[in-house]
Amino acid sequence: MKFFIDTANLEQIQEAQDLGILDGVTTNPSLMAKEGISGTNNVMQHYKKICEITPGDVSAEVIATDFKEMVKEGEALAEIADNIVIKIPMIKDGIKALAYFRDKGIPTNCTLVFSAGQAILAAKAGATYVSPFIGRIDDIGWEGMQLIHDIAEIYAVQGYDTEILAASIRNGKHIVDAAKNGADVVTCPLDAMLSLLKHPLTDNGLAKFLADHEKAAKAVK
Ligand code: G3P
Repeated sequence: MKFFIDTANLEQIQEAQDLGILDGVTTNPSLMAKEGISGTNNVMQHYKKICEITPGDVSAEVIATDFKEMVKEGEALAEIADNIVIKIPMIKDGIKALAYFRDKGIPTNCTLVFSAGQAILAAKAGATYVSPFIGRIDDIGWEGMQLIHDIAEIYAVQGYDTEILAASIRNGKHIVDAAKNGADVVTCPLDAMLSLLKHPLTDNGLAKFLADHEKAAKAVK
């Protein structure tokens, strides 16, 4: 399973990149706004900086909701760097845009996916990635991870190439469950990624190893 970081924060992207386990970055208009990035030129410059930090896929989302504008925006974004992936919302014109970019050989990420039916449409339109939003489904009292399971089953039965990118990931359990249920990629905030490190037995075990080493060293002196 690939690990993407879900942020537009350059320091956090660099930190994840330095760990040596980062496969890519996803952003969205809310994440860009959180970093105070606005205006076409600033947004483009920011994507350029992200692409300079990581050689992995970088999802850049279109703002337009009609086909012609999505294509225009997507083509401009694709010019920024070779590792840009055009992120397109799951709407009717979005499906058309996915198919357009498929025919042009430009990679895409179909976002705002909340059902298996939508995931079938994304695959039919040739999306490179499909992004089911796990946490937001949990937020309304449904089982987000079941969607990953269902999409993985359908894609395997049908032989679809689209990669399942588990998004709206909030914690380490989501990451582990996404891996168990067949996600190809997980995109998450840095703290969710780092939470996988934590286990009290690791901390206690390391403290004991170091204390024993210290004791033995003192005994030799
Ligand atoms: O990038 C899309 C997605 O990961 C958003 O997550 O936490 O805003 O539901 P969240």
